[in-house]
Amino acid sequence: MSDAPEITPDAVAAAVDAALAAIADAATTAELKTARNAHTAEGSPLARLNAQLRSVPNEKKAEFGKLVGQARGRVNQALAAREEQLAAAETAAKLEAEALDVTAIAPRARVGARHPISLLQEEVADLFVGMGWEIAEGPELEHEWFNFDALNFDVDHPARQMQDTFFVDPVARHLVMRTHTSPVQVRSMLERELPVYILCPGRVYRTDEFDATHLPAFTQFEGLVIDKGITMAHLKGTLDHAAKVLFGPEAKTRFRTNYFPFTEPSAELDLWHPTFAGGARWIEWGGCGMVNPNVLRAAGIDPEVYSGFAFGMGIERTLMFRSDVKDMRDMAEGDVRFSEQFGMVV
Ligand code: DAH
Repeated sequence: MSDAPEITPDAVAAAVDAALAAIADAATTAELKTARNAHTAEGSPLARLNAQLRSVPNEKKAEFGKLVGQARGRVNQALAAREEQLAAAETAAKLEAEALDVTAIAPRARVGARHPISLLQEEVADLFVGMGWEIAEGPELEHEWFNFDALNFDVDHPARQMQDTFFVDPVARHLVMRTHTSPVQVRSMLERELPVYILCPGRVYRTDEFDATHLPAFTQFEGLVIDKGITMAHLKGTLDHAAKVLFGPEAKTRFRTNYFPFTEPSAELDLWHPTFAGGARWIEWGGCGMVNPNVLRAAGIDPEVYSGFAFGMGIERTLMFRSDVKDMRDMAEGDVRFSEQFGMVV
């Protein structure tokens, strides 16, 4: 082997130095692998020096063998040490890159808020249940007879006209979206044992514009009492109590004469609102009166034996002047930022 290197301490030291420098320079396990191939594998200076041992005269074999063996030992040791170092650094980097911060705030579904109309509806219902009344319900798609006829509306009463009432096709079936909760008066008298003490909160529909003070779908609560010996004094006492529960101890009510087909006498109901945003004042709150004998008769009740009172109020309107809501449309749009202001009660 003419090109075989001659084994000398310098040649061995040079091979070792080159190997150690390459090992120290390797910045990744992949680079270290390249250094290992270049400095220890077949064809590398050290491997070739090692192969040379075969041609060394016998008396020099032990000396050179030791020289080359020690050199290979040093290089292998340096390789192992560097490999351990790089592997540890790479594991640490990988752990850091894949780290998961379990204390980070995860995105969550936003919690909604009860609608203030639902809350007020329940507050009103609770107030009457507290007096021993029952909650009554009726259909929103109602027969014209319950919505108008049984309530003593004339056949040509203006409220029946197309501009106020949503009639449902086919018109011959006489179905309407109820225009008030008053039909529940008649249903309750027909379905229940006397006496009747009921409150009915619910949705009603009118062909009104959608603007700051009108909604085509809104909510009312209707009260009805049928018993022996009921007078207008009972009506006034009941409404005064409701006013105080909802608007504070200084609240009270007053009646102004009015006309409704289903009550006689009838009254417009005003509320003294002691904490109104613009200062304490009277506010129109709803309608009321003594149940018209014609309505009692339509429900099969003898007006000579029983009498009763009824009242009806709008819940959106009540919420507007109770909580200083300026635009009714805010109550229809379902934006949680509006509802949140009334609390997050679930
Ligand atoms: N139903 C009437 C309306 O929607 C409100 C009303 C007035 C209800 C007088 C009553 C009542 O029970 O007695 O405008």
